[in-house]
Amino acid sequence: MKMKIISVVGARPNFMKIAPFIRAIERYNQTSSGSHGQNINHILVHTGQHYDISMSQAFFRELNIPDPNINLEVGSGTHAEQVGKTMITFESVLRQEKPDWVVVVGDVNATLACSVTAKKEGVKVCHIEAGLRSGDMTMPEEINRLVTDRLADLLLTPDKISSENLRKEGVSENKIVFVGNIMIDTLEANRAKAAALNIDAICTDNIIGKRKHNSQILKENYYGLMTMHRPSNVDDPAVLGPLVDLFCKEVANEMPLIWPIHPRSEKKLKEFGLWETVSKTVNMILLNPIGYHEMLRLNMDASLLLTDSGGLQEECTVLGTPCLTLRWNTDRPVTLREHGGASVLVGNDVEKIRTEYRKSLASERKPMRPELWDGHTAERCLRAILDYRKPL
Ligand code: UD1
Repeated sequence: MKMKIISVVGARPNFMKIAPFIRAIERYNQTSSGSHGQNINHILVHTGQHYDISMSQAFFRELNIPDPNINLEVGSGTHAEQVGKTMITFESVLRQEKPDWVVVVGDVNATLACSVTAKKEGVKVCHIEAGLRSGDMTMPEEINRLVTDRLADLLLTPDKISSENLRKEGVSENKIVFVGNIMIDTLEANRAKAAALNIDAICTDNIIGKRKHNSQILKENYYGLMTMHRPSNVDDPAVLGPLVDLFCKEVANEMPLIWPIHPRSEKKLKEFGLWETVSKTVNMILLNPIGYHEMLRLNMDASLLLTDSGGLQEECTVLGTPCLTLRWNTDRPVTLREHGGASVLVGNDVEKIRTEYRKSLASERKPMRPELWDGHTAERCLRAILDYRKPL
């Protein structure tokens, strides 16, 4: 008997989560008909939310993800547009393919849209990275997580705090499986390849415009790394302006600050007349969106990381990079310093960022490995699906 699984990706942070899962399926198909006596027919659906080469195809190539079997090509738009278009097109995919399972990862619009559509079509849903909660309903990702986890048949959690969150919400025990963090599978599988890259070359290859960066300072591995794209940080000039001032006039005054820019942030900086300041700051090294290995390499030796990304908080924890999280809350408390991680919440308050920045510069790199962040999560995810028994 063949099991049919449709996995869904939509936006950049999904790609590093699906890569090891696909590899686990390939291994299972090669080494079995398995203890379960079945092969898996796997179909990869890309909703097309991220479509630029640097935001999508580049990751497929780098992480050896097969081309999607189906691309829904929903593109950019408001949340309702993205979710609505995805639901309409994904519904017809489900009707045609009739899978046993739909596997969704993370918390982007594809995660929400495809889990709702699958449940309405009577298809079982498995959510990888279930149970994360920030409690912040102003974040679209929190809404996506809540809806997905309420509907999913199988909730695969990255840490025990997430499992506990689900129990508190009344999710029955037989649906929850603690599997570890699948993104760390990708980190471990790519660590050596990333380590071989040259930091100076990464900056030269990706720099925006024709500027030259100060390669002398970079060679000494004394630099900060920054990513920032959340609407709460970049969509309001009253928030973005003072942040840009702090990063350009203070941080970049002391150390080179490498900032690979998300298309959303570039658009907003230009719209608010801040692009000139940022691009003229001598030690601010502005890069186009960079690849997975390049980002991992920069993270490995950064003195400090400033970010509002969720995945980077996790990678900093494993690499030990002191991380200032530019948010007031986190859905990943296991990455916080009070839980042994590398990250501290600084929101977008300039004074708080300044204080924690000073403290972080004085702190040591301290790698930490939460339970089951061991590089083997994808196998446990697949096993959980194969072992799933419908509750009586
Ligand atoms: C989405 C996810 C967010 C994730 C982020 C990672 C949701 C709700 N949000 O946010 O959780 O952290 O991806 O990047 O799903 N754009 C391009 N090229 C692209 C894609 C986007 O230029 O390939 C520009 C467009 O102007 C678009 C804007 O970026 O309007 C925002 O993209 P969108 O996919 O709506 O949300 P993200 O901010 O990327």
